[in-house]
Amino acid sequence: MKFDTIVRGGNVVTPTDTTVTDIGIVGEKIAAIDFGLVADADTRVIDATDHHVIPGVLDVHVHLELPFCGTVSSDDYRTGTRAGARGGVTTLIDFAIPYAGDSLAMAADNWMKKAEGKALIDYTFHICITRWNEHKDQIKGMVDRGFTTFKEFMIYESEGWQSDDRALFGTLEKMKEYGTMLLVHAESARVLDELIARHHTPELMKKYGAQLHAMTRPNFIEAEAIQRVVMWSEVTGGQLYIVHMSTAEGTEIVKAAQARGVPVIAETCAQYLVLNDDVFADKDGHLFACCPQLKKPADSARLWEGLKDGEVSVISTDTCTFTREQKAMWAGDWTKIPMGMPGLETLLPVAYTHGVLDKKISLEEMCQKLSTNPAKIMGLYPRKGAIEIGSDADLAIIHPNRAHKIAPSQMETNADWSPYEGWELSGFARTTLSRGEVIVDDYKVVGKAGRGRWLPRSYAGLAGSNAEPRMSRLSRGPLSPLRAALIESLVSQ
Ligand code: URP
Ligand code: ZN
Ligand code: ZN
Repeated sequence: MKFDTIVRGGNVVTPTDTTVTDIGIVGEKIAAIDFGLVADADTRVIDATDHHVIPGVLDVHVHLELPFCGTVSSDDYRTGTRAGARGGVTTLIDFAIPYAGDSLAMAADNWMKKAEGKALIDYTFHICITRWNEHKDQIKGMVDRGFTTFKEFMIYESEGWQSDDRALFGTLEKMKEYGTMLLVHAESARVLDELIARHHTPELMKKYGAQLHAMTRPNFIEAEAIQRVVMWSEVTGGQLYIVHMSTAEGTEIVKAAQARGVPVIAETCAQYLVLNDDVFADKDGHLFACCPQLKKPADSARLWEGLKDGEVSVISTDTCTFTREQKAMWAGDWTKIPMGMPGLETLLPVAYTHGVLDKKISLEEMCQKLSTNPAKIMGLYPRKGAIEIGSDADLAIIHPNRAHKIAPSQMETNADWSPYEGWELSGFARTTLSRGEVIVDDYKVVGKAGRGRWLPRSYAGLAGSNAEPRMSRLSRGPLSPLRAALIESLVSQ
């Protein structure tokens, strides 16, 4: 076979084994995985000796150029996708959120425009349902257009994004009908409002500053919301994906629900694995404000355990970048801090350094959580997410231990700070290939803006995928007693 590119002699992680071998690429696809592939005169040979070659990372939770908290998140599709590429990310999924009065189709069109001409890597969007009465009859049209994941927020009333139980329940019924999946930001809005109101005094703000962000969001705020929406998934049979899960309690609820056969999947983010709420006491603590906020070391430990055991299927970032100037909008009132952090550039380095090198997960498990599972769950597999013949040639080549010190001035993100500033992280991409094209070479971005493509999808979640063992067991799992009771009650009506 004549190859356009051969990646030579790396430690290649495939779904079946990890072995030193070559990868042959023809056009945009992986065409061969075998040792000793023969190059001809015009084959580009990329030396991967003494490096790991892993599937390109999918960051399936990203907000680029998002109008939010009275400002607009500062990484757009140009800087955000460059940042991702430097960290081995070759696919991202953003959230298309309808502005007031917009339909779901208008939201998708709007996000398409943000990406066009700027994206360096491939992308698609979760479609956010913010006004159930208006949007419910538009969902099927979006599925037909190639969007198979939808999103609802249980908080953010002031942004006009909040969904109530009626919307969550109704959307999950539709997910069941269409074989699609609902992503949910699970925090308990009313109790949270009450806790914020109780603490929103000049005295407490002066005394505790940004620490109030953590003090008003105890773990039960997330746990109660997860518990409730898991119930709606259980009785409707609609596929549910908990985004940015941050608590040990949430992890336990998901584990128990999965054991009952509830079609629920959980994601956590890099920051919840390696940072904790001590940061809010620092001078720059407000920079770390995000929703849900950072929790305790015991929560991080439980999330790592969940990744290892399988109840946590995906690591993402929830990238929502705000600069120091934007974060300064809080002026001492913690309810006014733009919520979110940069993350795309450091996802793989954090997971590799603190997961693989610290021996919390294996290299193969990391590839499952960063690439294969997200691709399967989000309806992008086998095109994305694995080093397999026929898949897109999306690869990250990383040195096993070469570390980079995190310095915002040397990064691609627009952020002028990093949650990991000063940390030594290994796992930055020496080379990133996207559909066979080198877009990062010698740790520098060389790919051109606008080459990234939108990715249409036809399924999501457990429907149509054959994800990790726990999930394939789940897809054949027993009918949960609650769902059986609901079906029984509907049948007998
Ligand atoms: O603080 C965060 N997470 N900002 C982005 C919006 C969201 O809730 O995901
Ligand atoms: Zn969220
Ligand atoms: Zn988010």
